[in-house]
Amino acid sequence: ATTLGAAAAGSGRYFGTAVSLSKLGDSTYSTILDREFNMITAENEMKWDTIEPSRGSFNFAPADSIVSHASAHGQRMRGHTLVWHSQLPSWVSSITDADTLRSVMNNHITTAMTHYKGKIYAWDVVNEAFADGSTQLRSSVFENVLGNGFVEEAFRTARNADPSATLCYNDYNIENWFDAKTQGVYSMVKDFKSRGVPIDCVGFQSHFGTSGPPASFQTTLSNFAALGVDVQITELDIAEASTTAYTDTVRACLNVARCTGITVWGIRDSDSWRTGENPLLFDNSGNKKPAYGAVLTALGGR
Ligand code: G3I
Repeated sequence: ATTLGAAAAGSGRYFGTAVSLSKLGDSTYSTILDREFNMITAENEMKWDTIEPSRGSFNFAPADSIVSHASAHGQRMRGHTLVWHSQLPSWVSSITDADTLRSVMNNHITTAMTHYKGKIYAWDVVNEAFADGSTQLRSSVFENVLGNGFVEEAFRTARNADPSATLCYNDYNIENWFDAKTQGVYSMVKDFKSRGVPIDCVGFQSHFGTSGPPASFQTTLSNFAALGVDVQITELDIAEASTTAYTDTVRACLNVARCTGITVWGIRDSDSWRTGENPLLFDNSGNKKPAYGAVLTALGGR
């Protein structure tokens, strides 16, 4: 295999990227996208502030354009994201009544998932709900008004809306097995599995520094997988795109049977949210960087 997507497919996995609608018309960008990647995450277009900017008024057009692109090019989609404290319109974050917020949250999940029913392989149902350096949920309008139960409620609502979608919990800084946040998420998933709360997957964002993944990353992936969920690397980028760090990351996934795929968070360095860190696989001109070769080789391609 000579592309990331084809090489990943050799072991039954996908290789994806975040896509920004505003760049689809850039032929350098779209050429790489359609040659290399077989999974797409909308970088911003499926977030709450875009799809429901005011209560009950839905704007699916930007995300629809990305979904159409994916479908025209044989790419699958990850849905990102339904319940998140960030990029949340103020009409939601200012709700103080629990019944109102519960109904707003469930309507948002149901409307978005129904709109895309059958077109989204996996949804990040809840994103970044845990506090940094802690085993507990972070403060957010959802936590403050609804309590810890909002996460479970979101997943139950999501399962009803599209029973065939893979339902994921997605977060950052949960890659090191020895971090409190990792343990908090692990306990939640274990509890959900034991009580039959519908969860199918955990997404590890994997925004790494120059040294790459923690030494325990593969252990973390396999411990979560042992709970009976898929694990996915959902937003990978690595400062200065160290070849060793990228290789270690890919190997950790390939060594875990239930690690179903890897998504990098953008195509060229100039597409990255990490300005000045050169964390991606293609340079600003769209040339393959050494990290590209490292990833392709690690995936079994050449
Ligand atoms: O679209 C507006 C534009 O109209 C306006 O002129 C401009 C001025 O600031 O802002 C534009 O919006 C920006 C948006 O990206 C689209 O480009 C926002 O300011 C900017 O904050 C937003 O950043 C995104 C960030 O999430 C927001 O939290 C990044 O592109 C996106 O890569 C990043 O992705 C997140 C994941 O969703 C969750 N995990 C962490 C990851 C990195 O932060």
